[in-house]
Amino acid sequence: MKQSLILTILVTLTSFQRASAIPFQVRADLDSCLNSAGLTSIYPSSSGYASAAQAYNLRFQYSPAALVYPTSENAVAAAVKCAGSLNVPVSARSGGHSYAAYGLGGQDGALVVDLSKLKAITINSDQTATIQTGNRLGDVALTLYNNGGRAMPHGTSPEVGVGGHLGCGGFGLDSRMWGLFLDQALSARVVLSNGTIVAASPSENSDLFWAIRGAAPSFGIVTEYKFKTYPAPSSNIIFSYSYWSTPQATASSIFSAFQTFAQTSAPPTLGIQAILASAGAPGQLYVSLTGVFYGTKSDFNNAINPLLTKIPKPQGTSVVTYGWLDSLVQLGGQSLNTSTTPDGTDTFFAKSLMVPQEAPMTSAAIQSFFNYLGNQGTSSDTVSLTTLYSMHCEP
Ligand SMILES: Cc1cc2nc3c(=O)[nH]c(=O)nc-3n(C[C@H](O)[C@H](O)[C@H](O)COP(=O)(O)OP(=O)(O)OC[C@H]3O[C@@H](n4cnc5c(N)ncnc54)[C@H](O)[C@@H]3O)c2cc1C
Ligand SMILES: *[C@@H]1O[C@H](CO)[C@@H](O)[C@H](O)[C@H]1NC(C)=O
Ligand SMILES: *[C@@H]1O[C@H](CO)[C@@H](O)[C@H](O)[C@H]1NC(C)=O
Repeated sequence: MKQSLILTILVTLTSFQRASAIPFQVRADLDSCLNSAGLTSIYPSSSGYASAAQAYNLRFQYSPAALVYPTSENAVAAAVKCAGSLNVPVSARSGGHSYAAYGLGGQDGALVVDLSKLKAITINSDQTATIQTGNRLGDVALTLYNNGGRAMPHGTSPEVGVGGHLGCGGFGLDSRMWGLFLDQALSARVVLSNGTIVAASPSENSDLFWAIRGAAPSFGIVTEYKFKTYPAPSSNIIFSYSYWSTPQATASSIFSAFQTFAQTSAPPTLGIQAILASAGAPGQLYVSLTGVFYGTKSDFNNAINPLLTKIPKPQGTSVVTYGWLDSLVQLGGQSLNTSTTPDGTDTFFAKSLMVPQEAPMTSAAIQSFFNYLGNQGTSSDTVSLTTLYSMHCEP
């Protein structure tokens, strides 16, 4: 896997609304087709519709034609066939955490196939795991660890769904060591747009297997994946080196050192990100270099030293060793069991820019970027400016 430096910029914006747009007769026919297939559905007239159709990002409000909650692969196929026969667009929803509400179809009038009732996780005798796509990352991590001390690489939010996370990437702080979430897939079962169910792997429908690892929403609904797993590391060191308020020029030099370190000496067992924000005064920025080291304290000291010798003394330092599950709770900021935690929401605009490994940000580009952050950035209503050594995946 190639390492890229990705800048994710989050900004709050006000929400907007759209009107509903599906003809009455189509809705009635869809209703009757789903009913005869024995599917439980929620319609705009149902009492639970508003909460079922709520996006994670509250900027987006869409009106699906209906939402269905299939309990089997065959039921997913039946729902897809009903929608197909009526030309109603279909959208799978796994964890519902798309930045732009693509799980709701990204438009009005879709049939949302909610996978939340497909939650089986089987750990096989060869230490692979078969995981249905209605699962969330936190529950996957808990189940893998509690059944043999296993783990997988993935993003930090426990609430993100397996379906959307795998469908377009999935980057965690452990991805420099183990790869993306999608790199772990060994095979999949997929419902195609005509309702046919197929297996996909390197030896069966290999073109489809290639396509779903990066663009799943365009090719079908994946109902389950078989995954590689890893022994969970026993020592997970979460560190942060922070500058609560530092002039933009100093912030810029810290960032340059971070980029050089990431490119030259950071070992794969180190996941690190730079978080940048306004420090509340013009020209002053908050900078934090933070992440996880998978290994012993003395190996960590050797690994981080080339960075620490190139940056000014941090205003705050924290280095704490955790067990595997506790490290995931720290990173995710909440319990891993999503069935006991209500889903969060947010209101934000996000944009991702990628810098290829072979062409990193030039020092002129870094200076110009920090000049912008220190001027327009500290005087705008932007809440946080985040620079991650990671990837936020959106189809
Ligand atoms: C709070 C938060 C933290 C995040 N942190 C990270 C991170 O650390 N690293 C990272 O890489 N990303 C991160 N993301 C981005 C996240 O990985 C993507 O938004 C992901 O697509 C969400 O998956 P989902 O299943 O929850 O979303 P959904 O909205 O359910 O789905 C997203 C897209 O995938 C499609 N889809 C869902 N399930 C399937 C399926 N079974 N088959 C085919 N298509 C499907 C949907 O139709 C939709 O187009 C984060 C997002 C949020 C909101
Ligand atoms: C989450 O908690 C519930 C209630 O205690 C429990 O039934 C379920 O098994 C837990 N999930 C996981 C993945 O451990
Ligand atoms: C559905 O599409 C697949 C892929 O194009 C094809 O192989 C299959 O025969 C189709 N099934 C039906 C029932 O048309």
